[in-house]
Amino acid sequence: MQRGVLVTGGAGYIGSHTTVELIKAGFEVVIVDNFSNSDISSLDGIERITGVRPTFVEADCCDKEALRRVFEAHDFQSVIHFAAYKAVGESVAEPMKYYRNNLLSFMNIVELMQEYKRPNIVFSSSATVYGDAETLPVTEQTPRKPATSPYGNTKQMAEDILRDVTAACEGIVGIALRYFNPIGAHPTANIGELPRGVPNNLVPYITQTAAGVRECLSIFGDDYDTPDGSCQRDFIDIVDLARAHVVAIERMLAGKNRARYEIFNVGTGHPVSVFELVNGFEAANNLKLNVRIAARREGDVPAVWADTTHANNELGWRAERALDDTLRAAWAWERKVRGIE
Ligand code: UFG
Repeated sequence: MQRGVLVTGGAGYIGSHTTVELIKAGFEVVIVDNFSNSDISSLDGIERITGVRPTFVEADCCDKEALRRVFEAHDFQSVIHFAAYKAVGESVAEPMKYYRNNLLSFMNIVELMQEYKRPNIVFSSSATVYGDAETLPVTEQTPRKPATSPYGNTKQMAEDILRDVTAACEGIVGIALRYFNPIGAHPTANIGELPRGVPNNLVPYITQTAAGVRECLSIFGDDYDTPDGSCQRDFIDIVDLARAHVVAIERMLAGKNRARYEIFNVGTGHPVSVFELVNGFEAANNLKLNVRIAARREGDVPAVWADTTHANNELGWRAERALDDTLRAAWAWERKVRGIE
């Protein structure tokens, strides 16, 4: 079916928001997820927002035979592959867990696409491939830097696999979306991020601190060579990011892709420092956070943000949501999860 999409990791943070935008755009979604870092409640959230419960198969994408049954049973032209582990520190401690899961699942997907003649794939890549870039903002032509973690390496390796497969195989076209820092939650507060344990990422740590789950937010470094001494990132609203996947799929279905493999940065194009984000969260939500300055976190780059010209011009996509709305949505979601009025 032309407008069928397989979404692996569709119960997760980015996958669930993308599923909502796909359904709103008239796509029929089949989700495959093994709940390794997600929760079945996100399917309820998707249904509350869209009125549609996507078809769901509980399976691990590393299990090729289980995945094969999905390809046998469902007719879709396109795949969006989110299913992967994503904790940088954990990947350093347990590299094989990351190489096995992130690469095997991706190779299974690509092989089954070839076998079952399903032509289009969007791959979740990351700004991590740019490392500590020499020039900012980064364009898609900015050279990749050697990965500093097994997690980052799996993103680079999967990009390369996709480049090689699309070059060799007439039947497959692919788009890698390099995400910057996805944040926020759906404005209805029906879906959002559900990190397990202590959050690694800034915004979940902020919202949990505001909720009293964490005592104090540590700001990792105030002595960087940046305007205010804290790191700068490109924080992209999760709904804006989700929409980028829909336009990427539409582009391939319409045959508008200019090459068999394309790469797009998905960010706002604007740097925001950690201090600015924290202050922005406090102002948008009219509250005060308990904050302390801590040592730099190993592996953090001082600054990275996107040049989004390519995505703006070629995909006709741009980030639209204002940062304070995104930060209000993040807090509304955390309150809902915690049952805070
Ligand atoms: N930060 C804090 N305190 C925290 C958490 C984060 O000060 O409690 C700071 C970090 O030091 C960094 C910024 O907030 O400067 C953003 O940190 P995140 O962990 O939210 O995001 P990263 O930019 O480190 O991570 C992103 C993606 C990863 C990707 C990584 C590569 O989320 O998937 O970039 O650098 F691998």
